[in-house]
Amino acid sequence: MPEAVVQSSMRPLMASDNGALNAIYATSTGPSLDFLMRLYRQPTTRAWIQESASVTLGAAWFSVYDASAELIDLSISPAYRRQGWGMKLLQTSLDLLESESVSICHLEVRRSNCAAIALYQRTNFRIVGERANYYRSQDGREDAILMRRESSEYGECL
Ligand SMILES: CC(C)(COP(=O)(O)OP(=O)(O)OC[C@H]1O[C@@H](n2cnc3c(N)ncnc32)[C@H](O)[C@@H]1OP(=O)(O)O)[C@@H](O)C(=O)NCCC(=O)NCCS
Repeated sequence: MPEAVVQSSMRPLMASDNGALNAIYATSTGPSLDFLMRLYRQPTTRAWIQESASVTLGAAWFSVYDASAELIDLSISPAYRRQGWGMKLLQTSLDLLESESVSICHLEVRRSNCAAIALYQRTNFRIVGERANYYRSQDGREDAILMRRESSEYGECL
C-alpha cells in the first residue's frame, strides 16, 4: 500500500529531482522525462513539483512566451491519482504564472485522456480545436484536443 498523504506543498522543480521523477514517468505515454529535463534547461521553462515530506506526488511543466504559456506535461504518480493533487498542482501553477503576467495557457491532450480533459475543464480550460490523427496510439493514430484558458474570461475568480 502506498503511504497516505494528507498534506503536500509545491516548489520549483530542480535538476536533482530527476531520480524521484523516474518512477512517475516510467509508464508515461506523454513526453519522456529525458525530453522534459532537456526542456527544463531552457529559460522559457517553468516547472513545479508537488510533494509531501517523503513522497514526490507529481510535476507540471510549462513553456512561457510573453503573456502566453503552454502546458507541456502534468503527471501525478499513479498511486496518488484521484486525490486532488493534480488539480492543486495545476491550479497553483496557473496562479503563479498569472503573477508573472501570463494570462493565456494552451495545451494539447489525447482525445482518449478523459481524466486529463475533465481536470482541465474543472480548471477553466475550454476546447478550442482539434488536430486529427496527431498522436501515435496503440490502434494507429489518435486526435489531439486543443484547449485554452484565458484569465480575462474568469476575472476575479483566478
Ligand atoms: C490527469 C492527471 C494529472 C489527473 O491527476 P489527479 O491528481 O488524478 O487529478 P485530481 O485528483 O486532482 O482530479 C481533479 C478532477 O479531475 C477530474 N478527473 C481526474 N481524474 C479523473 C478520472 N480518472 N476520470 C474522470 N475524471 C477525472 C475530476 O473532475 C476530478 O475531480 P473529482 O475527483 O472531484 O471528480 C493524472 O490522471 C495523470 O497523471 N495522468 C497521466 C498523465 C497525463 O495523462 N497527463 C496529462 C497530459 S496532457
